[in-house]
Amino acid sequence: MESSVYNCNVIELPKQHNPAGNITFVENNIQVPFEVKRVYYLYDIPGGETRGGHAHYELRQLIVAASGSFDVLIDDGKNKKIVNLNRPNFGLLVVPGIWRELVNFSSGAICLVLASQKYDEVDYIRDYNDFITYKNK
Ligand code: TYD
Repeated sequence: MESSVYNCNVIELPKQHNPAGNITFVENNIQVPFEVKRVYYLYDIPGGETRGGHAHYELRQLIVAASGSFDVLIDDGKNKKIVNLNRPNFGLLVVPGIWRELVNFSSGAICLVLASQKYDEVDYIRDYNDFITYKNK
């Protein structure tokens, strides 16, 4: 499966600045290169926790630190990259076939995820060895 960490870019999202508070917006196929079918968010994450720890066959995601900060470790089986997300108007595009782990959550962090598919457990690769086998196919 050909997809690499170099296809996982940080996308700058629009920021409508206002002294009364900023607005950032995301529209299908404009700021994100897919149709958003699902939105979910991680919150109340205890210090020291790791989330993720899996890959997807088809799912595309835009991961945003809507509040606070965290690191996303991405791994394509050959190359690894660590991306720190700490601003609500930047998102990391994660393409299919990438192992990811989310670590170093700041207190009160909110991880907002825009996803290209509905939740489907069949799309997950939860075992790292299975992931490597899949990538070497
Ligand atoms: P998972 O994606 O494994 O969490 P994370 O990668 O953040 O550690 O999801 C954990 C559980 O939550 C999963 O087993 C089922 C449920 N879940 C849903 O029902 N719908 C969803 O959209 C998501 C993301 C998870």
